[in-house]
Amino acid sequence: VDGAHVPVLVVGSGYGGSVAALRLAQAGVDVHVVEMGMAWDTPGPDGKIFANTTAPDYRSYWLRTRTKQPLSNFLGFPIDRDVPRYTGILDAEDFSGITVYQGRGVGGGSLVNGGMAVTPRRENFGAILPSVNVDEMYNVFYPRANAELGVNNVDQAWWETAACYQYGRVGRKHAQRSNFSFVLVPNVYDMAYMQQEQAGTVPKSAVAGELLYGNNHGKKSLPKTYLARARATGRVAITPLHRVTSVAPVSGGRFAVVVEQLGTGGEVTATKQVTADRVFFAAGSVGTSKLLTRLKATGRLPNLNNEIGKGWGDNGNVMCGRANHLWDPTGSVQSSVPTAGIDNWAAGGAFAEVAPLPTGIETYASFYLSITRNPNRAQFSYNASTGTVDLNWQTAWKQPSIDAAKTIFDRINATEGTIYRTDLFGVYKIWGDHLTYHPLGGAVLNRATDNYGRLHGYPGLYVIDGALIPGNTSVNPFVTITALAERNIARIIADDL
Ligand code: FDA
Repeated sequence: VDGAHVPVLVVGSGYGGSVAALRLAQAGVDVHVVEMGMAWDTPGPDGKIFANTTAPDYRSYWLRTRTKQPLSNFLGFPIDRDVPRYTGILDAEDFSGITVYQGRGVGGGSLVNGGMAVTPRRENFGAILPSVNVDEMYNVFYPRANAELGVNNVDQAWWETAACYQYGRVGRKHAQRSNFSFVLVPNVYDMAYMQQEQAGTVPKSAVAGELLYGNNHGKKSLPKTYLARARATGRVAITPLHRVTSVAPVSGGRFAVVVEQLGTGGEVTATKQVTADRVFFAAGSVGTSKLLTRLKATGRLPNLNNEIGKGWGDNGNVMCGRANHLWDPTGSVQSSVPTAGIDNWAAGGAFAEVAPLPTGIETYASFYLSITRNPNRAQFSYNASTGTVDLNWQTAWKQPSIDAAKTIFDRINATEGTIYRTDLFGVYKIWGDHLTYHPLGGAVLNRATDNYGRLHGYPGLYVIDGALIPGNTSVNPFVTITALAERNIARIIADDL
């Protein structure tokens, strides 16, 4: 409500925002969460809330008139199509050197992601967050995050025979024949439900190719976990289709927050101002970094320090496909939920997720999203002439990621006598090096903030999302984002409230 006052305002409803909302509410604080995306609680004309990955429609993209699918081509043909401009679920946000994919809606990235719930190897943690106590994370906060997120494991006996994981078993065979470590990884998708899908006893979601644009069943996204528990406290209000554009100090130690209400065409239908005692930035690595960079540069939060906007990385994401022999089909019906990875982090700096290619036809392709050790870091800066916040990442900075991924796939190709697919990202292009699913950093812990996410310069302002993590987690990031948020909010509740 315009003119209202709230004790705590949370910007964004992804992992960081959901943890903050639940824990603050449990501590007795009223919390208002402002989310620029939609609520995703109402079925469309087809009776479904979410569109299928193979048939993108108006629900699929955030304010685009044409889809921007991560795999842009198939057999050399472009597969993108026109869609009505709408506040859809997946944002393919273009910067000059990289497209950053992000979820939009109540639940943030949990609505669109693969659900791979990976806790990094303990020996790698020091390189991820050097100022954080490792014992505390592995004894308390990683277990807490895994439990709240509903992380579960696939039943391996079932996985060994399920038709929808033929592609996973081919991935394992090829990894092991080249002496790589192959690991089954946990997920937040309800694996018992998926077994019933495969058996044909419940409505299909993962086995019907739903993922990138939301799952209608089975996926334990944040609205079913943290946010459901947060709402049950009676202390959390969530306002969708509202975008925070400004936060600035006013008298009494409070902050004035400017919020734009959006229509589903992206138009601003109203501008409101509220005041808050505390503001948690949880707009995701890109959203939080863009806001803070702009607010510092335009004089609304001038005392933020010079670390704002720095330390951004892409988690070393790079994609590729391999063309298998005819005796290694990967299956025409593939579960869209990935369950496996090839771990060559120690030797080659790459952890490759064995990813689905749920096209509905046999492709004889193996597809991988690699997370690699890429040392390049980019910076956000305010461009006064265009009024935009730019990111200086360059496409060529993916070369270390390609080199790391090749430590796995060159060897597998040599063992198998196979080649890379060259038709998935354009014409004769092997590497999907134009994108990331895992933006991290921009307001790094213990640099832009103190060691618990308190922004330097403004008591009462906090960062609590992927912006805190300096560019890489060595595995898929959301478990680490959640666990770090749990750690920080516990300290903030104990010391600041
Ligand atoms: P997150 O992005 O989740 O939430 C931020 C929220 O803030 C969004 O809902 C956004 O709309 C909102 N917002 C932004 N600006 C705002 C503003 N100004 N005002 C109001 N609201 C605003 N990770 C993983 O661990 N395993 C996996 O399998 C995958 N797979 C995967 C697939 C795909 C396609 C994507 C795009 C991503 C993944 N990820 C993933 C990554 C994972 O989803 C991501 O790291 C987390 O969602 C980030 O969590 P945060 O809390 O930082 O922000």
